[in-house]
Amino acid sequence: MDCYLMCVLWYILPLGLLIHLLCFIFADADFTLLRASLMGHRPESKLKGLVVWVTGASSGIGEELAYQLAKCGSRLILSARRNDELNRVKQHCLETSNLKDEDILVLTLDLLERTSHEEKTKAVIQHFGQIDILINNGGRSQRSLCLETSVDVYQALMELNFLGTVSLTKQVLPHMTQRGRGSVVTVSSVVGLAGAPLATGYSASKHALQGFFNSLRTELTDFPKILISTVCPGPVQSQIVDNAFTEELNKPVTTVGNQGHKMPTSRCVHLMLVGIANGVKEMWIAQQPFLVFYYLWQYAPSFAWTVTDLLGRKRVQNFKAGLDADSAYFSKPKTS
Ligand SMILES: NC(=O)c1ccc[n+]([C@@H]2O[C@H](COP(=O)([O-])OP(=O)(O)OC[C@H]3O[C@@H](n4cnc5c(N)ncnc54)[C@H](OP(=O)(O)O)[C@@H]3O)[C@@H](O)[C@H]2O)c1
Repeated sequence: MDCYLMCVLWYILPLGLLIHLLCFIFADADFTLLRASLMGHRPESKLKGLVVWVTGASSGIGEELAYQLAKCGSRLILSARRNDELNRVKQHCLETSNLKDEDILVLTLDLLERTSHEEKTKAVIQHFGQIDILINNGGRSQRSLCLETSVDVYQALMELNFLGTVSLTKQVLPHMTQRGRGSVVTVSSVVGLAGAPLATGYSASKHALQGFFNSLRTELTDFPKILISTVCPGPVQSQIVDNAFTEELNKPVTTVGNQGHKMPTSRCVHLMLVGIANGVKEMWIAQQPFLVFYYLWQYAPSFAWTVTDLLGRKRVQNFKAGLDADSAYFSKPKTS
């Protein structure tokens, strides 16, 4: 019997490891999320009819979230600062789904205007009567070296990405605890888990979000039907580089390279919705070679820092040479 067991272990274990290794080479998300996408609930069945509030819905990931959620049959609140862009997104949702005009509320919202968040939340509840899911997606990135960056930029990043998100969450959460259910999903980043050059303030704001929501989750253990989920994407196609902060407030990014090499927005958003439908608490979404770094940072940080330093040096060199900082890492565009 012992001999039989040893033989099974001898052959099965390496075979299992080999299969996982092969899967990992082609993976674009962590194993929990990929397993959910293969064997878990489908977003269309779980999210149909739910009321979902998406911030940052006027472009990029938020815009794509609106399209895919509309196709799932979710009722939507679309928020950002640009009303005309939100109306464009709403129109496209109506044309590509079975939703009716009253199923989509365009609600302009500035995350920086924290005093308006209570009134905005009331407007949503008045329209739909409930909020099932809040997706904290709105935010801005950074492209500048620490030594050259004004402290005002650091303040602006924390005010927008961290405090704006915390403020809106604090308005919506009491409604969810009262009902005993709901989901707060926050788009963090790979740099919410690790660091990256040219993004000291951005990374700090996303680390702050990770700390806040990881702590909040443990505070809400009496509410098992409330999901607190953080999403940590790697590079994804969007307007994020165009809109990034630089050394000074209001100074635009000068070099924006082609974003075609990044993960297609549709794939990132599909995985996010799978994660939400299956109650995944933290999602790592990135193509290789980025995905391997999430695992290295988690399980072998000393080795990860050595490799990160090498890549980081190249990134800073690109930036100082006036190139798009990412350009050294990619060669061919990805199609959706
Ligand atoms: N793309 C990536 O590679 C990547 C990777 C990791 C994480 N993320 C995160 O993904 C989220 C979405 O970014 P994205 O990539 O889709 O970039 P994006 O295309 O630039 O979208 C950013 C969104 O945030 C909104 N926004 C900016 N400032 C705002 C404010 N003061 N109040 C309310 N809304 C505001 C923008 O709308 P208005 O200008 O109309 O207000 C826009 O809809 C961000 O949190 C970002 O940090 C992105």
